[in-house]
Amino acid sequence: MTDRENSSTRLSLVQRPRRNRKSDWSRRLVRETTLDVSDLIWPIFLIEGEGRSEPVASMPGVFRQSIDVAVAAITEAAALGVPAVALFPNTDPRLRDEKASIALDPENLVCRACRAIKEAEPEIGVITDVALDPYTSHGHDGLLVGDEIVNDETVAVLTRQAVTQARAGSDIIAPSDMMDGRVGAIRTALDAEGFQNVQIMSYAAKYASAFYGPFRDAIGTNKTLRGDKRAYQMDPANSDEALREVSLDLEQGADMVMVKPGMPYLDIVRRVAETFHAPTFAYQVSGEYAMIMAAAQNGWLDGERAMMESLLAFKRAGASGVLTYFAPRAARILQDAG
Ligand code: PBG
Repeated sequence: MTDRENSSTRLSLVQRPRRNRKSDWSRRLVRETTLDVSDLIWPIFLIEGEGRSEPVASMPGVFRQSIDVAVAAITEAAALGVPAVALFPNTDPRLRDEKASIALDPENLVCRACRAIKEAEPEIGVITDVALDPYTSHGHDGLLVGDEIVNDETVAVLTRQAVTQARAGSDIIAPSDMMDGRVGAIRTALDAEGFQNVQIMSYAAKYASAFYGPFRDAIGTNKTLRGDKRAYQMDPANSDEALREVSLDLEQGADMVMVKPGMPYLDIVRRVAETFHAPTFAYQVSGEYAMIMAAAQNGWLDGERAMMESLLAFKRAGASGVLTYFAPRAARILQDAG
């Protein structure tokens, strides 16, 4: 190319956005969002027994663990700086019934796990799930009367479940059931029992989603669930309704709110964060995890990069943090990078 031809192909641009991207140091300098280990909440599946760790087939790298094994894993996660874990039990099918009785037993799997974790690792936050699905014979989050999940009767059980968990040492009560009025009822019940400092993280905008499939495999409700959860979980088509749900939960005393699932609902995360300026969490649910892992295992994408990119995307959308099965793996990468 002659000099003349060369200069004629050169644009005279004042703005060249690529200048800031030319090197790693420059990209870091202008970066708008960062992912930190403090953004990660680790959901954990529990089973009875000792020394047990069973793989969840649809979630490669995820296990159902007995309390002792879970405590060891949680101790490692705490050392990496993961601030909190969320507990989900796979209840022995023989202990499940129509009324979810075992949910109110102070010796149930979740309560025993709370006490064991608090004793071994008092510095990690323990989040317990309030909903009846791990305990009902029909797999629904509430009480089934005829073919209806009855709201107010369910809320009465949920408040007792929340108090049972608080007594076991739960730091954050996380109602994932989507009954109306449960946050206020739980707040009142916790306060009446002297648990003013127990926080509530409400699954405020929780959608009736196909992405929960592998989770139901993990807690053993996929085969027992009768029908679907559309009469209480939200319609994926709705966005304004999510704002109304979040607003109700905040009014009723939620300290933190959640949007669930995560990646297909980043628009909701953004609206909730911008509208309420309250701590807003996103749940990267089991199906999202499974999709990334399955593609990675097939060599169809770089699993580690997809994991980190997906987590960063939640932060960019405005989330305060993310519930993710990737938590310990991402924490290790962040620690190595830092
Ligand atoms: C139910 C509950 C679900 C999840 C957390 N709590 C599933 C459901 O509503 O059926 C899903 C989490 C995941 O898919 O990772 N209380």
